[in-house]
Amino acid sequence: MRIVSGIQPTGNLHLGNYLGAIRNWVAMQDEWTAQGHECLYFLADLHAISMPHDPAALTAGTREMVAALVACGIDPNRSILFNQTQVPAHAELQWLLTGTARMGWLNRMTQWKDKAGKNREGASVALFTYPVLQAADVLLYQATHVPVGEDQKQHLELARDIAQKFNNDFASEDAPVFTQPEAIIPPEAARIMSLRDGSAKMSKSDPSDMSRINLTDDADAIMQKVRKAKTDPEPLPGELDGLKERPEAANLVGIYAAMAGICQADVLAQFGGQGFGAFKPALGELLVEKLAPITARYRDLRSDTAALDAILADGAARARTLAAPTLARAYAALGL
Ligand code: ADP
Ligand code: NA
Repeated sequence: MRIVSGIQPTGNLHLGNYLGAIRNWVAMQDEWTAQGHECLYFLADLHAISMPHDPAALTAGTREMVAALVACGIDPNRSILFNQTQVPAHAELQWLLTGTARMGWLNRMTQWKDKAGKNREGASVALFTYPVLQAADVLLYQATHVPVGEDQKQHLELARDIAQKFNNDFASEDAPVFTQPEAIIPPEAARIMSLRDGSAKMSKSDPSDMSRINLTDDADAIMQKVRKAKTDPEPLPGELDGLKERPEAANLVGIYAAMAGICQADVLAQFGGQGFGAFKPALGELLVEKLAPITARYRDLRSDTAALDAILADGAARARTLAAPTLARAYAALGL
């Protein structure tokens, strides 16, 4: 089995990114590589240019994402960790596949409709064709399995259709150029809300730094943010039902459960009946204990640009080696 998965290179990483995305990647790596499968993880920096973006922030965000991934447990020896840009075969194969993808297929992509909205004439061509780049991202490596969330299922179907049509049109039945990858559904991720507003998601775009715990925060900042987190005056309930209509309390209990690796009912069994004066310090200490090794590693790595670039260069070299035979066969199949 060979598993390929991409992530957008965002900067200013926070607890929501960790619990909602990065931690799952680490868990998948640990599970899959232990079974002898190959894991390729890439930063989708080429995808980032399909929407308006700031070039300097993209460069910084790519490095921050690598730092966060490694600090959180992605092992660049066990996994192949790289960014798309350093493996030109992604862009090359994408162009080759645009000869096979049909306008009608891309027109049916719901993400295109959602993201372009009413302004289709003003949308970038990249926004329209990026599902073809996603197809190239996985077909290039003969991926057998691709973890996809609900919103990406349609794009994986497209990749399978492109692989099938290309094989039909340009390869003999006994020597297909591309493998049709299967979807795997990753474990459901936690959704972490703002510490200042239980109805908004924790996000780097929130202007209030008190709304989120950053992967760069030290112990004092974490304790202060948890202490000041918005709550209600009631004590914690003993049962899950008692968290309904109490989004701030539910969020803090959810964070505790996710960090402790237990279910929310167990958190309530322990803290039910206690006020936030008791629960918040316990949550703050748990966060500090679990995050301290990660945040320390993250801060060190983030400031070591040479180390980060070396990790990316090494990952890209390994990815280029894996990609080369498939790209060569695709060119040859097309008579190029
Ligand atoms: P932000 O909202 O801070 O800009 P991004 O949109 O860049 O975060 O998300 C990067 C990854 O982190 C995505 O996989 C996203 O689902 C996950 N993520 C971001 N915020 C949260 C959150 N509050 N809770 C859970 N997952 C999150
Ligand atoms: Na966002």
